[in-house]
Amino acid sequence: MKAFIFDLDGVLVFTDKFHYQAWKAMADRMGIYFDETINNRLRGVSRADSLEIILERYEGVPLTQEDKDALMEEKNNTYRELLATMGPSDMSDEVRSTLDELRLRGHKLAIGSSSKNTKFILEQVGMGDYFDAVSDGTNITRSKPDPEVFLKAAEFLGESPENCIVVEDAHAGIDAARSGGMTAVGIGEAAGYGKTDFPIKTFSDLLKVPAV
Ligand code: BG6
Ligand code: MG
Repeated sequence: MKAFIFDLDGVLVFTDKFHYQAWKAMADRMGIYFDETINNRLRGVSRADSLEIILERYEGVPLTQEDKDALMEEKNNTYRELLATMGPSDMSDEVRSTLDELRLRGHKLAIGSSSKNTKFILEQVGMGDYFDAVSDGTNITRSKPDPEVFLKAAEFLGESPENCIVVEDAHAGIDAARSGGMTAVGIGEAAGYGKTDFPIKTFSDLLKVPAV
């Protein structure tokens, strides 16, 4: 029986808009150009790597690591204020019923997210105790496209990587799954990516993925 490892942001919940708003507020205050296209490059990427991508457009005096830490903190504070407005209705019925059905069929279910806010988000949507394992930004040293976060999730589940199906919306996440030796299901942006094993249009299509 295959195990599922779900990315969180952009797959189970739509926090992308909050990431965008929080980075945008920081970028505007700093006078840095930032738009939705640049924001798409931040999917699945760690907070520190995201800042580096945003700073490609920065033209001011050189920033120290302390300055960068302060910018990340500023973004994260805004982001968490936005996350605090979330509730159970921010996880769709389609996602909930599909997860329940996969569990009923005997699959183990885990989270594999780069976010250090994973547990906070899961609690906000009332899923704090739902998953069999949670691997997130707090237990890794290398962010996607490195497979570490998914390999840790498989380890926490006691499963071999070949037995895991990763569900992702980010190219970096699909690359991470494939280089970790896992099957990669792509939704949203990742559905059109060449390295995706199984593209799906909507979350409940997971019930039709071969071997499920
Ligand atoms: C990923 C998001 O899930 O988490 C990225 O797709 C984000 O956009 C990353 O940068 C890190 O999130 P956080 O919550 O630790 O800043
Ligand atoms: Mg994602």
